[in-house]
Amino acid sequence: MNFFFLKGNKLLVLESVYPPSEDSFLLAEAIEAEKGCSVLDMGTGSGIQGINAALLGAKTIVCTDLNKEALKNAEENAKSLGLKGFEFRQGNLFEAAKGEKFDLIIFNPPYVPSEEKKFEDLDGGKGGREVLDLFLEGFEKHLEKGGKCFFLQSSLNGEEETIQKLEEKKFEIEEKARKRIFFEELVVFKTWKKGLK
Ligand SMILES: C[S@@+](CC[C@H](N)C(=O)[O-])C[C@H]1O[C@@H](n2cnc3c(N)ncnc32)[C@H](O)[C@@H]1O
Repeated sequence: MNFFFLKGNKLLVLESVYPPSEDSFLLAEAIEAEKGCSVLDMGTGSGIQGINAALLGAKTIVCTDLNKEALKNAEENAKSLGLKGFEFRQGNLFEAAKGEKFDLIIFNPPYVPSEEKKFEDLDGGKGGREVLDLFLEGFEKHLEKGGKCFFLQSSLNGEEETIQKLEEKKFEIEEKARKRIFFEELVVFKTWKKGLK
């Protein structure tokens, strides 16, 4: 079993779960969560994003993942810190949101460009955009009025394409963090409906 540290808390990572990495921490550090907000932590993995949001003051947190083990892992981590307000749901992208809306949606998707999708936590398919694009298509329906969405991608996925898609939906977009890792840059974007900041 592996461990990681989040704001001084020691948390566990099960064997078949994505171990929090530079992308996870870059995203977590960029999150702005208002006290009492509701959160959708999509593709929760170890639970790092949802737990971070709870530590920042979020009141209700729905953690979703395709991977059952990830949900078990996230639940154990939230419990170990005595955090309340969590729900854990298995499902593909917004299917697990069950039509609900959230003040804050967070996603660190699988974004590695790949011919086939062998590893659910890493492989993003063609251009690394397959899961990211489905996410960008779907998140608006699940945002409360004035809600914000934070997500991460790689420069290898094409930043302009993301910006263009969001602009077409009449969303504002702000770069919150950027980090060079070997041959790519990881970027965290924050996005919200124009006129509703
Ligand atoms: C890069 S990992 C990020 C894990 C964690 N959120 C973090 O920041 O460390 C991507 C996660 O998304 C999950 N995932 C991949 N495709 C998904 C989908 N279509 N619907 C829900 N979860 C998905 C994976 O199982 C994995 O846990």
